Amino acid sequence: MPVLLDLKRPDRSDTLHFVLPINHGYGSRPCIVVTAAPTVSPLPGTLNSGEQPSLTSHDCKSSNMTQRSEAVLLRYEVLFGTSQFSTSDTRIVMAFKTLAALLSVVGALQVANAALTRRVACPDGVNTATNAACCTLFAVRDDIQQNLFDGGECGEDVHESLRLTFHDAIGIGSNGGGGADGSIIVFEDTETNFHANLGTDDIVNAQKPILAKHNITPGDFIQFAGAVGVSNCPGAPQLDFFLGRPAPIAAAPDLTVPEPFDSVDSILARFADAGNFSPQEVVALLSSHTVAAADLVDPTIPGTPFDSTPGTFDTQFFVETQLRGTLFPGTAGNQGEVESPLRGEIRLQSDSELARDSRTACEWQSFVNNQSKMQSAFKAAMLKLSVLGHNAFTGAATFPAGLSHADVEQACAMPPLPSPPWPLIPVRPPLSLLSPLPKQPSTSKA
Ligand code: HEM
Repeated sequence: MPVLLDLKRPDRSDTLHFVLPINHGYGSRPCIVVTAAPTVSPLPGTLNSGEQPSLTSHDCKSSNMTQRSEAVLLRYEVLFGTSQFSTSDTRIVMAFKTLAALLSVVGALQVANAALTRRVACPDGVNTATNAACCTLFAVRDDIQQNLFDGGECGEDVHESLRLTFHDAIGIGSNGGGGADGSIIVFEDTETNFHANLGTDDIVNAQKPILAKHNITPGDFIQFAGAVGVSNCPGAPQLDFFLGRPAPIAAAPDLTVPEPFDSVDSILARFADAGNFSPQEVVALLSSHTVAAADLVDPTIPGTPFDSTPGTFDTQFFVETQLRGTLFPGTAGNQGEVESPLRGEIRLQSDSELARDSRTACEWQSFVNNQSKMQSAFKAAMLKLSVLGHNAFTGAATFPAGLSHADVEQACAMPPLPSPPWPLIPVRPPLSLLSPLPKQPSTSKA
């Protein structure tokens, strides 16, 4: 049952809210954490101070999860800042305002709820939680924010940490690999030397000393750091975090991480092999490139972003990749790079092709100016990515064994469920502010 809580959350994303599953090894109650004031300072220009509540509330959602044999994945939500343009954030702020006005009612609910929810004091003497397993994450979060993300910024370390969540998790498939297991840190000598992983050694080396200070597995740490980091980016959704990944047992095999010079066929096949990702989910995951830059694609211009707003999680990336490419921002002839529309912006061949392929172009275009769709689709796809290799309930429906799209009786042309290999479904391009997409050469897949 949803429970309203008062959470001290003076200025940004530093209130923790955990939900644990029923019937797991850590206890049977939802784990709710009330935290003290955050220790990080607000990011200038990203918070709408006029709308910041001094007292905030949040629902406690219930969560069903299945168990992995050795470990249970616990769910954690990062409550993040109130960026000005984020629709869902604004709604949260508005909800908080209303709830703050109903403080006395909430207070009464809390008293009643306290009788139902046992709380434990965390060993830090500051925080409390309904499950002791949650307590360790407060210190990890604070350490990450202060010592990795420079006090809660959405900078290069956040971008690299987000990229690392992907490069660790996608290391799974028909050729082996443990998915989101932290193998890229533990077996860094092997994995960070894979061609597609070049450059990840920087963030691995930055994360390792922090990881070493805490009682958390490498797989959990990588995904947790990514979730916390994204919460620093204005416009980003609250990512779910599941806790409980066991330590990795081996390095992932090479060639699991897509390259920017791979074909769309190859990229979609890789994601399908890794975790049954649909083309739509691949597009959703590429929202990450809205807070991203490339150091190595053209080494003469390291740090060149993929869109004109790399510090904000907005839909600018999707529209800018649809624009006609006219120039190389640095040198020409780099593998995996195509012409971009703007000076100071680099375009990956893979992003360019995904923005134009008949299987992904309409989905790509549908994100433009649809911040809430981008947030929700990215959040759902990131959850799926972050638990690859683990048995965690994510709420995604799948076909029962032996059944597929062919067995569905329905009138709608859009596939409701993923089921590889992905059938090509003709869809009408959505109306939008954009010019029509360029015509695709007809192929057997169209
Ligand atoms: C088709 C799949 C993908 C390809 C081919 C691809 C390729 C690349 C390349 C080539 C770079 C630049 C690396 C460099 O030169 O420094 C990059 C950066 C990045 N990628 Fe991807 N990527 C893909 C999917 C993803 C996904 C699924 C995520 C996260 C969920 C992600 C997150 C990032 C981030 C955050 C950066 C920026 C890192 C930084 O600024 O330091 N990418 N990607």
